[in-house]
Amino acid sequence: MESCGEHRIGWVVGESSPRESLVIFEKGFRARLGLYVSSRAGDMCVLGMLERLSAGSHLLPQGLTEAEVVESVSTYDHSLLERERYLRGSVRWIVAIGEGHSVPQEPVMPGSPVYEAPASLLKEVFSPESEGYLEVGRLIGAGVPVGINVDKLARHLAILAVTGGGKSNTACVIARGIVENYGGTVAIFDMHGEYGDLGLPGDKAVVHSTPFINPYSISLRELVRLARIPENAHNQLRLLRWVWNEARRRVAKGEIRPGEVIDFAKRVIEEYAGLDKKLVNSWAQRNEFETRPPAKRGDEAEGLLNRLDDVIESYGDVLRKDAPIDLDSIIQPGRLTVFDLSGLDEEGADAVVSHYLRRILTERRDYVRGGGGYSSPIIVFIEEAHVLVPKDESTLTKYWASRIAKEGRKFGVGMALISQRPRKLDPDALSQTNNKIILRMVEPRDIEYVRAASEEIGEDLASLLPSLDTGEALLIGSFTKLPAVVKIHKCPYKKSGGDIPVSREWIEASSRERGIVEEAFG
Ligand SMILES: Nc1ncnc2c1ncn2[C@@H]1O[C@H](COP(=O)(O)OP(=O)(O)OP(=O)(O)O)[C@@H](O)[C@H]1O
Ligand SMILES: [Mg+2]
Repeated sequence: MESCGEHRIGWVVGESSPRESLVIFEKGFRARLGLYVSSRAGDMCVLGMLERLSAGSHLLPQGLTEAEVVESVSTYDHSLLERERYLRGSVRWIVAIGEGHSVPQEPVMPGSPVYEAPASLLKEVFSPESEGYLEVGRLIGAGVPVGINVDKLARHLAILAVTGGGKSNTACVIARGIVENYGGTVAIFDMHGEYGDLGLPGDKAVVHSTPFINPYSISLRELVRLARIPENAHNQLRLLRWVWNEARRRVAKGEIRPGEVIDFAKRVIEEYAGLDKKLVNSWAQRNEFETRPPAKRGDEAEGLLNRLDDVIESYGDVLRKDAPIDLDSIIQPGRLTVFDLSGLDEEGADAVVSHYLRRILTERRDYVRGGGGYSSPIIVFIEEAHVLVPKDESTLTKYWASRIAKEGRKFGVGMALISQRPRKLDPDALSQTNNKIILRMVEPRDIEYVRAASEEIGEDLASLLPSLDTGEALLIGSFTKLPAVVKIHKCPYKKSGGDIPVSREWIEASSRERGIVEEAFG
């Protein structure tokens, strides 16, 4: 029978289950958390990860209370002390490798040797040359390339870390890979304008540096939210619904341009506001509306006008009459589209992101059900997800992000939530992200929150997080066969989210100033 490794590092002791074994390590071996090990279970090799680790000494048992005893033992005979030390760990077995990969079914027997997982085995698991594989980094400690299965991104992803941990770099690596290797479609909602074109050639990337929505594409529901019309303002809502439908009919008949629907609505309501109650019907006939306007009750028309003015004031920069309407021309299939939201306030960003999330989901649903729609599966990345999909507030984006979290998979819409404040993220949306890339995270409450949303992260795996370096990440979820601790590749994109070297800028600025002074006064 073929061996499951070459470099033996320990032995299985105690009781094993197919999932877990206790391992005693050989003297002198320096085990560390996250180490990949292999052994044999029945006629399969199994691969596992070291998840718990403790050291002890028979000479220095737990109950010892006398410091002098410890001192005399430690100074007495160093080699004895060395001999009596042990290193014990708990390994979680994750895959059995025979013909293909499967969940381990048999326990590793006590007394079985445990090996450092051979690179060939690790490669088979982490760098399979299978469909959907995308390399994102290298296994820490082993150097083996690690990839994710991009098909599983339709089960969504969370990219979490402290600020500067390497989230945007990670998003860049994945987004670029999807576009370059698969000709896939990616949209990034970029709150700080840090992505640019990710260094992709011009025909592969489109950056909307001033994001837009054509007023015609707004749904009635969106307009109600943007105008902040309260749910109990029935008269205003009735009037708006009527005029909005009339406006869209006029567009269909070619009488007004699509981008003019809000102006049309305002014009009509202005007239309506000035009418005597009894004259509404004759006015409607004169204007050849297709449906009857609602009867006038009070000052709902004035109220609605104010609210539409507010919409124009708050979202005027975004609601552009000449903006394209077709989703295909705004988010082009097979390319990267970056919405640079840095020029907008939170409300504007919320309006843009929610609008496009809604259209992506509904148009993909139409396509899958055979009724036109958007032809390409798509992955959307949302930066600052705790702002747009927050825990305790309701935003427009939160509604559609939750819908995508629940339904996107069926329609080929994957969502990646990026955040440095995980505990401010909506817990429902977070727990729907089946995949996680967690870079350095130090705040215990954040770590706890993420653990609560993902049963795969044990206490010991979580204890790795604070010690990770920039760009080092724990990958878990269905997009990787095994949890992996990975150094993510550096993404070759232009703009950098790195710290600004302030002292250098100060020195440069003051020497520039000195230069000016010297020039002037010689
Ligand atoms: N895998 C990596 N290899 C090398 N450098 C990296 C890696 N990941 C990130 N960096 C560098 O670290 C810095 C911060 O990375 P990045 O902007 O991706 O962090 P972030 O988590 O998005 O930060 P923020 O919270 O500010 O948005 C950048 O200068 C980036 O180039
Ligand atoms: Mg970032």
